[in-house]
Amino acid sequence: MRTAIVGGRVVTGSGDFYSDVLIEGEKIAAVGSVDKGAVDDVIDATDRLVMPGGVDPHTHFSTPLKGTRTVDDFESGTIAAAVGGTTTIIDFPLQAPGEDPRVSHEEWRRAGESAVIDWGLHQIITDLSDEFVPAVDALVAEGVTSLKLFLAYPGNRMVDDRTLFRAMREAARTGAMVLLHCENGLVIDELERELLRTTESTPYCNALTRPPLTEAEATARGLAVAELANAPVYIVHMSAVEAVEHVRRARERGLPAYGETCPQYLLLTEDKLKGDDFDGAKYVMCPPLRSEANRQGLWNALIAKDLQVVSTDHTAFRFGDQKQRGRDDFRQIPNGVPGIEWRNTLLYDFGVHQGKMSPMRFVQLVATNPAKLFGMYPIKGEIQPGSDADLMIFDPDRRVTYTAAQQWTRSDYNPYEGWQTRGAPEKVLLRGKVIVDDGEFVGRAGQGRFIRRAPQHVACD
Ligand code: URP
Ligand code: ZN
Ligand code: ZN
Repeated sequence: MRTAIVGGRVVTGSGDFYSDVLIEGEKIAAVGSVDKGAVDDVIDATDRLVMPGGVDPHTHFSTPLKGTRTVDDFESGTIAAAVGGTTTIIDFPLQAPGEDPRVSHEEWRRAGESAVIDWGLHQIITDLSDEFVPAVDALVAEGVTSLKLFLAYPGNRMVDDRTLFRAMREAARTGAMVLLHCENGLVIDELERELLRTTESTPYCNALTRPPLTEAEATARGLAVAELANAPVYIVHMSAVEAVEHVRRARERGLPAYGETCPQYLLLTEDKLKGDDFDGAKYVMCPPLRSEANRQGLWNALIAKDLQVVSTDHTAFRFGDQKQRGRDDFRQIPNGVPGIEWRNTLLYDFGVHQGKMSPMRFVQLVATNPAKLFGMYPIKGEIQPGSDADLMIFDPDRRVTYTAAQQWTRSDYNPYEGWQTRGAPEKVLLRGKVIVDDGEFVGRAGQGRFIRRAPQHVACD
């Protein structure tokens, strides 16, 4: 099957030009003028942008948290991703303490069989005793070329510095990337106890007990341990400018340090936690939403290239029952927000349409850089001969309305309820096949493939 995409403006992480694109089977065959008579199908992309399908390296499908589970599974979550122009995600199997990490890996591999887009796995490490090192080696060989560790959530995921250092040594030895959730879990635990001795529990306590310095301290520590171990490190969901400053300085010194932020931190502030009727629980997340100054600082960091990726940290819960678990004690509110469906449309409108960044920078942040950092480039995140034909054909004027009444995620609320933006994918192709047409999902469960990622990262801005 040969398909020509004609007349579009091709935007990649390194170029922005008018060109046709030829697809043969699952791959891009050529970028240049295409003879329409010699193909089976023609897609007219006049007045459209032709961009690589989005790569979202941070999702949590069917993940246990605070006594419940996130509501999107690989099927509903990846349909939401596809409709929003994302064709690759990376999710996180969670190693139970004392358990071989391959057990959780196998569980996620089975769950991933319903995915509608391509997917990879980072392995969460909570226990790296000697007995589990061969298992981690085997996972890296299997294409799980990134390890995730938490410096938050004591008693549930948090690792000590020994495990952190050991995992980083393992990463340095095998070529894996280390992802770090950076918040000082024990200090936060104490701040929570202190606050609850004097104050009524409300969702806003989420922000009060996780001040920026708890994120900055853990980020500095994580970067230092990575430097000691000689490992590349990627700090997830950054929300505090003081923390970003540590990444900036590490990068200035030439260290392989990278950072991501998410739309919620770029577009919302901690005021959302103060809503009436427990509404703030919808916005409880870790690290929390922060001040307007932090919000603006994150945009500056994306533009200055101090941060490299915008992911979603898609962690979907229902407000109607799951978030209610924390009515009397904010510590029990399942933390996280849905976001996978709207990353590209939000970033395009607030970033590109509002003149903060070029379309090329947009593509770097949502596709090319995550593909480079997580061992998938140039198969993913690029439009060149040999790349997978994962494409987002984007209408810069298409309107999007944000409402829980019309969304694919199974969450019962939309963090951006009532918002409208301009610019959205009209068609989305996964390995040459149209899976979203005129904004409607037309693919099928199970068409996504597990990606065996390379044990190396390509440095990026
Ligand atoms: O609050 C958040 N971000 N929930 C998801 C789990 C995590 O720490 O990424
Ligand atoms: Zn996290
Ligand atoms: Zn996360």
